[in-house]
Amino acid sequence: CGIVGYVGGRPALSIVLDGLRRLEYRGYDSAGVAVVEGGTVLTEKKAGKLANLEKALAEAADPGIAAGRTAIGHTRWATHGGPTDRNAHPHLSADGRVAVIHNGIIENFSRLRAELEASGIEFTSDTDTECAAHLLAAEMRALRETGAADGPELLAEGMRRTVRRLEGAFTLLAIDVEVPDAVVAARRNSPLVVGRGDGENFLASDVSAFIEHTREAIELGQDQVVLITPAGIEITGFDGTPQEGKEFHIDWDASAAEKGGYDYFMLKEIAEQPQAIADTLLGRLSDRGEIVLDEVRLTDQDLRDVDKIFIIACGTSYNAGMVAKYAIEHWVRLPCEVELASEFRYRDPILDRSTLVIVISQSGETMDTLMALRHAKEQKARVLAICNTNGSTIPRESDAVLYTHGGPEIAVASTKAFLTQLVACYLIGLHLAQIRGVMYADEVAAVVEKLQSTPDSLRGLLSSMEEVRALGRDLKTASTVLFIGRHVGYPVALEGALKLKELAYMHAEGFAAGELKHGPIALIDEGTPVVCVVPSPAGRGVIRDKVVSNIQEVRARGARTIVIAEEGDDDVRKYADHLIPVPVTPTLLAPLMTTVPLQILACEIASARGHDVDQPRNLAKSVTVE
Ligand code: G6P
Repeated sequence: CGIVGYVGGRPALSIVLDGLRRLEYRGYDSAGVAVVEGGTVLTEKKAGKLANLEKALAEAADPGIAAGRTAIGHTRWATHGGPTDRNAHPHLSADGRVAVIHNGIIENFSRLRAELEASGIEFTSDTDTECAAHLLAAEMRALRETGAADGPELLAEGMRRTVRRLEGAFTLLAIDVEVPDAVVAARRNSPLVVGRGDGENFLASDVSAFIEHTREAIELGQDQVVLITPAGIEITGFDGTPQEGKEFHIDWDASAAEKGGYDYFMLKEIAEQPQAIADTLLGRLSDRGEIVLDEVRLTDQDLRDVDKIFIIACGTSYNAGMVAKYAIEHWVRLPCEVELASEFRYRDPILDRSTLVIVISQSGETMDTLMALRHAKEQKARVLAICNTNGSTIPRESDAVLYTHGGPEIAVASTKAFLTQLVACYLIGLHLAQIRGVMYADEVAAVVEKLQSTPDSLRGLLSSMEEVRALGRDLKTASTVLFIGRHVGYPVALEGALKLKELAYMHAEGFAAGELKHGPIALIDEGTPVVCVVPSPAGRGVIRDKVVSNIQEVRARGARTIVIAEEGDDDVRKYADHLIPVPVTPTLLAPLMTTVPLQILACEIASARGHDVDQPRNLAKSVTVE
């Protein structure tokens, strides 16, 4: 979910709506706002995308809601309760004085709900969040009656007392009629940042929501409550002890979060990939072609002591990890396992202090990955994060971090983050190989040189995608698309299929090409499109020849073959109904090229089918529940 809060001298509604627009990628099942004005809390909420809420607000044309100077807003990715108007946030207390919005899951909610219902409160939604609204109202009432607190402090203390009763993961924001110039927030396990303005302050799930208004931000720690008023920001622990957040300056360009002339953020982000790769390499290579990873806070000795590597991630980041396994095992000669974060800790993996766990997360907030990271740390493993979001939870809790410098990724389906994650994995692999003395300096330098040339090659590839787009439009009525590859082409096939599922809502599956004959080949029918990722004929000719045999096998059974192969590999042409040539690239680095036509194919098929490419149904960019 996306969360925004504002307090200051300007009409709050439009600031909050702008913020929600930038956070909508975090969830778009419903949206809502609450504004304090004229001694009441005014709310509007609607199922569906933010546009539905904006329409409802325009129709209601309530001057009060437009004028208030304190507001909170929410865009939801549903967990408890379906995506309806009534389950949309904010949720109000029974007396209508308090409004609350929430990201996360309150795990003890059924117990709390039973207790509140027993005390006579009638619930008006199916959400876990509504409990927090009723509890906060009750705590504030008790505080008022005993005279224990007043003014903004009443809101802050009420929130502290409320969150001490909650279990689970949450960011909560609340406002109250009686305290018109304050917004209170609490954070446990879910993201929250504060924006420091001049006579105004902001709260949000991430900085993109307030980047237009201020570049000064404060990152909140675990179990903290923050009270913002026009004049100040006050942070405490859940127990009330004063605490400090970590101040930071946002150096993103605000235009980085705008579409910049493209129809979709996803198209813009695909086009930004050459630059994103170059930015991720920047400053990490010495003049002599060595890898310099200053920000990896693990000593060379720590890295020499490693005897096993686990890579843990979800979704697209997991596919990046799959590619990394091939590179790391080949270069570093250490066993490397890749695992889905949601499975990792529940199978009791064998870890100790000489295990290096690499967690990969674009957002740095994915709950499955965070929980796997915590499990790894409990087992004393060393954790290195690859992350695109500065100051997010995953890098903060890791022993070391290598940031991908992809810039903000807004489209829900990941593109540039994937390629920069690959680059980060390559850098880590080469760094380990260098430190452990497994590769000679000139061998590392040779790979580095190739890496440095990938942005230019990719620019060339991106300029020749017209046929892929036409093919995408042609495939819009296909009922299934299969993807096959071997070696690093296998995770590329998985990523190609994932993109198509995410964007086009089409059945798509990626297979290891050699596994096809053991079952999936039964799926092939006359005209079934099969995308085949062919390795370079140089270096690993054997694998390339095996993939070519697999292409012939599917063709013999009627498949329509879409072949991605290296420029100059003319021999594959005869097996291809459609040939997509990609620039010559060493085998292990080839996913930096071969993935890109698959991103464009998925994007084109989805838009030909009339789908919202940036915000596919049922998904969210950052999933902060397990
Ligand atoms: C969500 C997104 C995916 C993403 C995955 C992991 O499911 O929809 O696109 O790959 O989370 O996200 P992360 O931020 O941890 O890389």
